[in-house]
Formats: sequence, C-alpha cells, structure tokens
Amino acid sequence: MRDRVYIFDTTLRDGEQSPGCSMNIQEKVELAKQLERLKVDVIEAGFAIASPGDFQSVKAIAETIKDCTVASLSRANEKDIERSAEALKNAANPLIHTFIATSDIHMKYKLRMTPDEVLERTKYMVAYAKKFCPNVEFSAEDATRSDHEFLYRVIETAIKSGATVINVPDTVGYTTPDEYYELIKNIRENVAGIEKVILSVHCHNDLGMAVANSLSAIKAGARQVECTVNGIGERAGNAALEEIVMAIKTRNSVFNVDVRVDTTQIYRSSKLLSNITGVSVQPNKAIVGANAFAHESGIHQHGVLAEASTYEIMTPESIGLTRSKIVLGKHSGRHAFEDYLRSLGYSLTKEELDRAFEKFKILADKKKDVKDADIEALLADKAIEIPEVYKLDRFVINTGNTITATAIVRLIKENGGPSMIEEVSTGDGPVYAAFKAIEKIVGVSFVLEDYKVHSVTEGQDAQGEAYVKIRRNGRIFTGKGVSTDIFEASVLSYINAINKMIYEEKLEAQV
Ligand code: KIV
Ligand code: ZN
Repeated sequence: MRDRVYIFDTTLRDGEQSPGCSMNIQEKVELAKQLERLKVDVIEAGFAIASPGDFQSVKAIAETIKDCTVASLSRANEKDIERSAEALKNAANPLIHTFIATSDIHMKYKLRMTPDEVLERTKYMVAYAKKFCPNVEFSAEDATRSDHEFLYRVIETAIKSGATVINVPDTVGYTTPDEYYELIKNIRENVAGIEKVILSVHCHNDLGMAVANSLSAIKAGARQVECTVNGIGERAGNAALEEIVMAIKTRNSVFNVDVRVDTTQIYRSSKLLSNITGVSVQPNKAIVGANAFAHESGIHQHGVLAEASTYEIMTPESIGLTRSKIVLGKHSGRHAFEDYLRSLGYSLTKEELDRAFEKFKILADKKKDVKDADIEALLADKAIEIPEVYKLDRFVINTGNTITATAIVRLIKENGGPSMIEEVSTGDGPVYAAFKAIEKIVGVSFVLEDYKVHSVTEGQDAQGEAYVKIRRNGRIFTGKGVSTDIFEASVLSYINAINKMIYEEKLEAQV
C-alpha cells in the first residue's frame, strides 16, 4: 500500500496573514466548509489568541467541521495554548499547534532566549498542550536556518513531551529543493522517535520554490504538507495547495504517495477564496489561472482538438472546471437551474436556492446566455450573506465629460423597521459621487482603501464585479457587488462593505 500524504491547509491562518486577504467569521466558515468538501486533512482555522474575531472564527469552524481535523496556532506559552484549547473544545478532531523559533537569529533577536531556554520551553509547552488535546503539532520556526544538531534535539524533546506531528518550516522561503531534501532525510535518520510522529513541512515562497521544496520533502519522507489555496500567505505566500496536489496526482509514479483531496473541488475553492478576498489569481497561475487550460496558438488548438493530451497533462474536469452542455436562459425553470447548480458541484438549502433562483431570473432577463462564471458570481454573493442594515433602493447618476458627476442614492435602512434615506453628492467621477452620497447616508467615518471592477464574462451583456476595501479603526472590510451595470455593481459593493463593517463591529462589541 502506498503512503498517504496529509494535506494541512493554512489558508485561514497563514494565508489570512497576507495583505488584503483578511476575512470575517462568516467568510471563514464558508471557506472552511469548502475545504471540507475539498477533503483536506487539516484546516488551520486561525490563531485563537490573536484577536476576539480570530477566537470566534476558530470556535465557529471547530463547531461546524466534522470531517477534517481543526487546528489553532499558539505560541509556546500557557495563555496561547489555553485560548486555542478553549476555541477548539467542541471540535470533532482538534489539534493544538504550538511553535517556537530555533534559529540563532530568531532566538537572539526576537525571542531573546538561549538555546537551553528554548529547549526547556519546548518540553513544557508541548506537555502543557497535551493536557488539553491528544493531538499536538510542534513547529520549529525558521527550522531551515537553524543549527541542525540543535534542531534535532528540539524535535526529540517535543516528541518525548507528546507531540504527534513535527513540522519543519522554511519560514522565510530560504531553502532549495536539494537542501530541504537533505534536511528532512537527516531529521529522519538522526532524531529518536521520529517514526512515531507525522513529519510535516511548511514552505514559504520568497524565492519562488515553495512548491518545489515541499515536493522534494515528500520524496525525502515527509508525510504532511502545509499549504494554502492559491498560494496566499505572508509576503510572497505559502506553497500552493492546488499545485502540490495536482503534481502528486499527475506525476504519481514520481511521488508514489496518495492524497485524500477531491481534486474536482479545486477550482471552486480557488474561486471562492478570490471572491471573498477580492484578490484574484494571475491569469497564468498554474492549475487555477484563467489561462491554465486555454490554448491560443493554432498549432496547440489543432492538437488539443485532435487529442486533448497533446497539450493538456491534466483534464480541466479533474480540477472541477465543467464544460457545461446545458444552456441556461430566461426560459429555464427552477428544476433546470437546480440541476445545473448540482452539475457545478453546488448543493444549496431551499432558502439559498430560492434566493439564487430569484437573482438568476433577474440576470437572465438582462443577459441572453448565462455562463458558469455568471452563476459562480451570483452564488459568491450567497457565501457572504450578513444582515443587511442598508439595502439599495434606487440610484440616479448624472455624468459626462463636461459636467461634474452627481449621484442621488436612496437606501433602505433596517433599524427595527425599514426607513428610506436619500442623499445627493457630487464627486470626482460617477462612482465616487455615488460613494459620497452613501457615506452621507451612513454617517460614520471610514477610508476607501481600494476599489476595482472587472467583468465576469465576456460580451456586451457581461456582468461586472466590483470590489471595495474600506478601513476603519485599523480594520479592513471587503465588499463585493455583481450586476450587468458596473455602477450598480460598485454601489452594491460599497453597501456590502459597510454592512460587514457594521455587523463585525457589533459582534466585536459583544465579545
Ligand atoms: O512560517 C512559519 O514558520 C509558520 C509557523 C508558525 C508554522 O507559519
Ligand atoms: Zn508560515
């Protein structure tokens, strides 16, 4: 039987640490549910002590997810470990992940601890975590720049104290495939008890080698890989989950291991993450980029039409890209719509289906031919449902190249009962005029950090997708809107970000 490599997904922890990728609780739970469908083995749900919001997210994910281990990160101290244990207490399969740095540079300048103190701390904190949870992962931060003999001693100590998983991170993306191979092999040969634990790797992409390093470590005997969807993460990111998994699947005779992942959920996972964060993947990104399965040159097109394997080493279907044969339009009924969603891999509750169908009918009225991407955009809205304190009633924008843009916006405010509020504003362009009118209605101050709009599909009747990021008290809130009218998409995205801000501030106030 072939060995299994465990996929430890850290999109919600290390991934969320990347600029512009913060998510709220609902978004994290929604993504965690998708990771469960993707069948990763471990979901690192967050860093419970980092903030009340992080704690709530880990707790909510721990209570929701049944088919994956749920992990929470903790530094090697009592308070962090207790907070993780508390957040994970209702998890079906909890894992406390604790770490301490082992490189000279980190011990001296960051921790201000001697190597002996780090050894002692490792011993006590792993044992402490073990009191709360049978599964404890220990990470030797900056392992690849650590003295090897010292690293072996720290790992041995963690194993003796009860660690069940040992992680060897390349924290700063410094190592190379050959060097990392040697390190993993040496750890396996020099650390007593290493055969009793799962040996894990965690690579950052500073030199663009995170995936290559992770795969090299698998060849050297590592049996868990820590990675993120779309490769998001600190600085240049973490190793990309989809690249590691598809490399293992596509070049199976090279790696000779199995993974549990359902690869047909890869595309959806990537899309959902981009939809939530507003951070899209580059078009030429391996596996999930828009061009990953596109063939532009005549020679390639000819080859692919004759026999797909001439230029495709994996099928689009294997990552969940459906080539749908059903055409949805305004005459399609609820059944056809539901069947279509199922063929895309979605299963909605009755209420979600009702709402999605209503939105689909409105869209189909405006758009002749509704494509997969339109449906995905429409459903992405569902993933981020939060109470709508403000709803768009109507807007009028007057603009041109010889006049100052003016917007009149009327919103419905839900505050016990609905009330209408209307404001007028001028602005530097039609979108900003509308945004300013909305700001007047809402009456709280925040800063517009980012705004972008792009089309979801091609053609004159394409849907526009708008993203905004607003900042208040140091926190970022992302909003998204979809419509065949880019002004409407923009207004909806602004209202969505404001509703999230109101909702999260209320939640935080309750903690
Ligand atoms: O990169 C790193 O070292 C980490 C650890 C906390 C595992 O993210
Ligand atoms: Zn990391």
